Amino acid sequence: MPGDLTVGIHDLSVATTQYVLTHETLAGHNGTGVAKYHRGIGQRAMSVPAADEDIVTMAADAAAPVVARHGADRIRTVVFATETSVDQSKAAGVYVHSLLGLPSAARVVELKQACYSGTAALQFAMGLVHRDPSEQVLVIASDVSRYELGSPGEATQGAAAVAMLVGADPALVRLEDRSGMFTADIMDFWRPNYLTTALVDGRESISAYLQAVEGAWKDYTERGGRKLGEFSAFCYHQPFTKMAHKAHRHLLQHNGHAADEEEITRAIGHTTAYNVEIGNSYTASMYVGLASLLDHADDLSGEVIGFLSYGSGSVAEFFAGTVVPGYRARLRSDAHREAIGRRQQIDYARYRELHERSFPADGGDHPTPRETTGPYRLVGLSGHKRIYAAR
Ligand code: HMG
Repeated sequence: MPGDLTVGIHDLSVATTQYVLTHETLAGHNGTGVAKYHRGIGQRAMSVPAADEDIVTMAADAAAPVVARHGADRIRTVVFATETSVDQSKAAGVYVHSLLGLPSAARVVELKQACYSGTAALQFAMGLVHRDPSEQVLVIASDVSRYELGSPGEATQGAAAVAMLVGADPALVRLEDRSGMFTADIMDFWRPNYLTTALVDGRESISAYLQAVEGAWKDYTERGGRKLGEFSAFCYHQPFTKMAHKAHRHLLQHNGHAADEEEITRAIGHTTAYNVEIGNSYTASMYVGLASLLDHADDLSGEVIGFLSYGSGSVAEFFAGTVVPGYRARLRSDAHREAIGRRQQIDYARYRELHERSFPADGGDHPTPRETTGPYRLVGLSGHKRIYAAR
């Protein structure tokens, strides 16, 4: 492996849904004081997919501008991370590969381990680029987070996709090879194949997350990782933005620092701006946080960012990256703000209708209503096959 080869994120693009439900609307329906949502969990709104949107349409929406900017000649692998799989066999990335007209000389695969698999995809991509630096890997993380109506998790729903082009000599973030890892067999959050909403032990999931932060950091440190003081910012997985505060406070305290709120906000504040409005996007969430950080912080050129990826069940990984000078010219800040700002606000009844919507399993023709104004849509189901098209 050549010593001067740098590998990392060359481009980063975020897409979300057609609709948005505000926490004011949810609170108005269920009688919860809205302060619990705004301040208690740190959420103001959640993205809701239209009837003709899903993980594939969001993924293609996120990836299309990346392919338009860089071309597809060097993309020989597409790795799709999700826990909202649309098929038990076919990788969702194959539909994206087709919608974007990517070369047939490519491998496409789907990865799963709750919210962690976006990071597994990134690590997989880095390994491939180290093997052949002339290749680029399209990493996509796309998810719709769904909990039962009226459950405590309901307020932490959301949806988004992130597309990252991973390659040598990256324009945005150089990623380091050293990682700290942690795995524990724990039932804090899971979704059996026969359910469409996740099961969760809320309190248990928070302590499992914090235990994983500690475990991944311990392994990172034991492997000679950077010291806490070397990091300018931290991107955490954000099931709700307050969780990133809890996680960073835990990391500081674990390292013997008195954690004052100002210091925590300085370290993670810019990473939460998009997630506050989008909600939990599972595999995409931490990378939505990275987009938010790069789009909102003052010049981060040369600064080191820490990444803590967590997926229930549970697996966590801590790793570091350095922001590449000149990165600001390559950001997609306007497009990201536009994607979040253009969502149409829906009322509780419409949200409920979309939440309860499912396709009959009869193999018949089930077209979807035309709703999305995004570039791709799920046209419907026919003969048990999902049909997608450019809008
Ligand atoms: P809950 O029982 O509705 O809320 O569930 P609570 O009573 O615990 O209150 C939440 C916070 O709001 C508390 O703050 C309250 O004090 C505060 P905390 O003690 O935690 O600091 N609060 C208020 N603050 C200001 N003004 C008020 C007010 N009222 C209360 N008036 C819970 C909350 C997060 C458990 C629930 O939403 C849930 O079950 N969510 C889903 C699970 C989840 O997100 N877990 C996070 C860790 S696991 C993870 O990240 C993985 C995941 O993404 C899945 C994957 O990996 O695939 C979920």
